[in-house]
Amino acid sequence: MCQQKEKVQYKNKDKYLYTFLSRKVEGLDPMKPWQPTHLGKVPLPSLTLLEIDKLQIRTSYTFYIKRSSSTCLEERFFVDAHLKKIDFLAFFSIKMEPILLNTLEKKNYSMSNKILKLGIFGFGCVGQGLHNVLSKTKGINATIEKICIKHPNKKRSLDAAYFTTNPSEILDNPEIDVVVELIDDSEAAYHIVKEALTKGKAVVSANKKLIAEHLEELLFLQSKYETPLLYEGSVCGSIPVIRNLEEYYDNDLLSSVSGIFNGSTNYILSKMKNEGLDFEVALKEAQDKGFAESDPILDVGGFDAKYKLCITLLHAFGLLVRPENILNIGIQNLSDQDVHYATQNHKSIKLVVHGQKQGQDISAFVMPTFVSSDNPLTNVHNEFNGILMESAFANQQFFGGKGAGSDPTGSAVLSDISALTYGYKYEYKKLHQSTIVTYSTQQLLEVYVRYQDKNTVQWEDFETISQRFESKDYNYVIGSVYLEKLLQEEWALNDHISIVLKSILEGETLDAIDSNNAAALAAV
Ligand SMILES: NC(=O)c1ccc[n+]([C@@H]2O[C@H](COP(=O)([O-])OP(=O)(O)OC[C@H]3O[C@@H](n4cnc5c(N)ncnc54)[C@H](OP(=O)(O)O)[C@@H]3O)[C@@H](O)[C@H]2O)c1
Repeated sequence: MCQQKEKVQYKNKDKYLYTFLSRKVEGLDPMKPWQPTHLGKVPLPSLTLLEIDKLQIRTSYTFYIKRSSSTCLEERFFVDAHLKKIDFLAFFSIKMEPILLNTLEKKNYSMSNKILKLGIFGFGCVGQGLHNVLSKTKGINATIEKICIKHPNKKRSLDAAYFTTNPSEILDNPEIDVVVELIDDSEAAYHIVKEALTKGKAVVSANKKLIAEHLEELLFLQSKYETPLLYEGSVCGSIPVIRNLEEYYDNDLLSSVSGIFNGSTNYILSKMKNEGLDFEVALKEAQDKGFAESDPILDVGGFDAKYKLCITLLHAFGLLVRPENILNIGIQNLSDQDVHYATQNHKSIKLVVHGQKQGQDISAFVMPTFVSSDNPLTNVHNEFNGILMESAFANQQFFGGKGAGSDPTGSAVLSDISALTYGYKYEYKKLHQSTIVTYSTQQLLEVYVRYQDKNTVQWEDFETISQRFESKDYNYVIGSVYLEKLLQEEWALNDHISIVLKSILEGETLDAIDSNNAAALAAV
C-alpha cells in the first residue's frame, strides 16, 4: 500500500546533505483512519534518523531527528510534514529547520530534596479528592500554593486565600513548579496545559478528552520544553494503567488490552441487570454519586472510554490514533430486551474497550459486549473498572479497582505528583521501538443487532447472518460485519438500533460461521 517513491533532498545551513525517503500513500482518504508509516533509517555520513518512527497524516506534523554520535554532538531538527492531496494520491513534503539542542534550556525535574509547590486548576470532585488524600498522606513533599476555580462565590471547604479565578496567578508564578489540571472544560484545560508546559512547569492532568485529542502536540511540547506531563488519573481512575504499560510491559509482547474503562456506564449496566432499574433512573443515580461526567453523553455514548482507549493504545502499542477515527458505540440504546437476551445466554453486557493486535495491525473500538461468566470483567460491578492485558509471556493478567470518584482519582493524581519528585516522566517507549504498528479497521466482528424497523439496517454491510428473530416488538439478528463498516455507516448509530459485540473473529472463521449465508441474507 505504501511505497517509497519520493526522494526529498535538503541542504541545511551546516552544509550537510540530508536525503530523506518520503512515502507515497495511494488511495488515501484523509477522512478515514490513516495508517502510520515509517520513514526508515537512512544511513548517511554521521547522521542516523533515530526518532522518526511514525507519522500521522495531518496538515502538519512535527517530529525530531537526532544526530547519532558517540560524542553526543546532538542536534535537533524540527520537521514539518505537510500533507498534500492531489486527486487520490497524497504525499509528504518535508521542511527541515535545524535547532541546536544547547539553545534549549535543560530542566531537571528530579525534585527529591525540595518541597513541590502545586498550582491546582479545579476544586470539584477530583480537586477536593486530591486535597483530601494529600492532607492524609505522609511523606509527599508537596504543598498547595494556589487553586484556580471558575465561580468565585461558591462555598469552599478551604480558606478563601487559597482561591483565585485568575490563571496567571499560577501560570506566571515562578514559585510554582507543578500545575495540576483538574477542570471539567477540556478546551480551557488544553490552553492551561499548553501554557504551563511552554513555561517550563511540570503538569499533572486527569483530563482524558484533552489528552486524547491533543496527544501528538503534547508529545511535542514535552520534548521541546523538556517538561514532564503525567496523566495516570485520566485512565481507569485509581488503577495504575499507564505506568504499568510504560514500565512493566516495556518488553513483553502485548497482544490485547481490553476492559471496562468507564465507571458510570458500568454502574448503570450493573443496576439495570441486578436491580432491574431503568436506564434513566440508573444514570441519575450515577450522576448523584459523582461517577458521571457533567455531560452524560460523554459517558453513555462511549466517548469517555474512547479517549481513555486512545491514551492506552499509545502506551500499550506505540500507536497514535485520533479519537474520531475510533468507533464508539455507547449504551444509550440498550433496552431491557438486550439485558434479558444476555441473561438468557448466561452473559452480562458491559461497555468494553478493545485494543487488539494481530501481526502489526491494531484494531480498536468501544462497544457494548456480551461478557461470559469465565471472563474476569463479568465480576467488575458498579463504578469499578477492570483491565485485561494479554501478552506472549505473561499470558492473561487482570487489574481491577475504582475507576472514578473523588478520593480514588485524587490518589492517582497524587501518585503522579509523587512520581515527579523522583524525576519520572513517560518515555513513550513503544512509540520509539523499531516495530511499526498500523491502525486497522479491517477487523471482522460478530454482533447482535436489535432493530425496530428492518429498513433502518444496511443489510449489505453484513458478511454473514447466522441467526434472525422477528416478533411484534422484538427483532434481532446475529451476524458478522467489518469494523470499518460500523465506523463508516450511520445506521450503526441510529437511536432505534442496539448493537452488542458477541466476538472478535479471526479472518478464517468467516466461512465457518454460516454456510447458508446467502439464504439468510435473502430472507432478511
Ligand atoms: N470525577 C471523576 O471521578 C473523574 C475521574 C477521572 C478523571 N476525571 C477528570 O477530572 C477532571 C475534573 O473532573 P471533576 O469530576 O473533578 O469535575 P467537577 O467536579 O465538575 O469540577 C470541575 C472544577 O473545575 C473548575 N473549573 C471549570 N472550568 C474552569 C476554568 N476555566 N478555570 C478554572 N477552574 C475551572 C470548577 O470550578 P468551580 O468550582 O468554580 O465551579 C470546578 O472546581 C475532568 O477532566 C474529568 O474528566 C474525573
